[in-house]
Amino acid sequence: MSSRFYSQKTKTLAITSGKGGVGKTTLTANLAQALAQQGQRVLIFDGDLGMANVDIMFGVKPEGNILDVIRGEKEISEVVTQVSPLIALISGGSGIVELNRLNPFERRALVDSVSQLEHAYDYMLIDTAPGISDNVLYLNAAAQMSAVIINPDPASLADSYALIKVLNREYKETRFSIICNQVRDEVEGLALFNRFSEVVNRFLSIGLDYWGSVPQDNLLKRSTLQQRLIVRHEPQAESARAIQAISLRMQQSVQKSDTKAGLQFFWEQVVGVA
Ligand SMILES: Nc1ncnc2c1ncn2[C@@H]1O[C@H](COP(=O)(O)OP(=O)(O)OP(=O)(O)O)[C@@H](O)[C@H]1O
Ligand SMILES: [Mg+2]
Repeated sequence: MSSRFYSQKTKTLAITSGKGGVGKTTLTANLAQALAQQGQRVLIFDGDLGMANVDIMFGVKPEGNILDVIRGEKEISEVVTQVSPLIALISGGSGIVELNRLNPFERRALVDSVSQLEHAYDYMLIDTAPGISDNVLYLNAAAQMSAVIINPDPASLADSYALIKVLNREYKETRFSIICNQVRDEVEGLALFNRFSEVVNRFLSIGLDYWGSVPQDNLLKRSTLQQRLIVRHEPQAESARAIQAISLRMQQSVQKSDTKAGLQFFWEQVVGVA
């Protein structure tokens, strides 16, 4: 099959972290915006049951979630919310905890309906909950790539190490990309990456990809509080430029790993269809 065939499949990317509050949701929304500004069609899957969710960043309240589709109460198209011309949002809601215990009939029905979206999006970004709970692990394992967000807090490093370790041991995941957030500058970010990468490499024999650093930026914080995406409203801000650069690096990096591409593949992994 030609490479063109593969490149048409949706690229699936989990945005994840060991520790909570490190910026997953903020970066997911802004990376989606950066991708859209570069002409990519993006579906965001909100895989976190928690409170401060990605819908808030876009100022929308989704009509339903994946559980409605599992129960056969809604069509997939009814739970996809278009938030801008190139960005759509689908919420896992409480369906997230159901996904890996569906019966074979429900599994097939879900995979078939979600696969209808396959050619409508270039990327699916999955905003996960923090930590190593089952649903975080299977969303990461199903995605083509995982971007782990770390910040200078030692607890963030320890928890991210634990997450990478389980995904490697239990799911044989070997490719992880790192985004350093809330650092002083690029120099501190790179040093943080090198420190973390060295430990992961030494104890788990896994090499990590560095996707870049986002500085601690009060403009980003303020922008988020006002439900504005900084990449869109203040594209010249330091953090916005960092996120744009990461989105370019991400596209180059994902192009190189076609093996687990596609929405159908992702959903089959999530619900455990062999
Ligand atoms: N680079 C940054 N500069 C300034 N503030 C930031 C930055 N990144 C994130 N924040 C702020 O940190 C807080 C937590 O961010 P966010 O909700 O995106 O984290 P999260 O990882 O999704 O959290 P959770 O684990 O609870 O889902 C928010 O108030 C956000 O505005
Ligand atoms: Mg979040």
